[in-house]
Amino acid sequence: MLKIVKDSNPQLRKKCEEVPLPLSAEHKALIEEMMAYLKLSQDDEYREKHPECREGVGLAAPQVGHNLRMLVIAYDAPTEEDPNKRIEYELVNPKITANSIKKAFLQGGEGCLSVDDVHEGYVYRDFKIVVEAYDNLQGKKIHITARGYDAIVLQHEIDHLNGVLFYDHIDPKDPFKRLDNSVAI
Ligand code: CO
Repeated sequence: MLKIVKDSNPQLRKKCEEVPLPLSAEHKALIEEMMAYLKLSQDDEYREKHPECREGVGLAAPQVGHNLRMLVIAYDAPTEEDPNKRIEYELVNPKITANSIKKAFLQGGEGCLSVDDVHEGYVYRDFKIVVEAYDNLQGKKIHITARGYDAIVLQHEIDHLNGVLFYDHIDPKDPFKRLDNSVAI
């Protein structure tokens, strides 16, 4: 079972390395194990038996002790047209290729499986981004256009690959400052 690296560990502050493509069997097994962990973290029964496990929507390789540019994302994202919509990606070498000037932030703040302490304040991110990556679930290179919550989750996870944690973005002098060109999610 994977063990989550906490933010007291300097390993989380390193810039991660590109992963060679096509994926080696070892890297493929690792990203699939990360997804399996993330899905287990969303299982209420599992969490009851393993109180150290917290529920997450994303996980990056450095959070499980690997200095590699890989991340997984999984959560339900129901819409009016598709009430069963779920977002799942197993991304390798993700790169943000376009972004909006407009910002978005989570009203309730962000959390992270590697961060146990509470860090209150708004984390401003780009409202809309385009990400280019290899997706192990689809077995090909993809482009994702993400807005709002979806864009926030992707930016949070991609930050991990660059040694950045969500609270680095909180203004210590004015943590709940409102930016003009921003929307609350
Ligand atoms: Co995190």
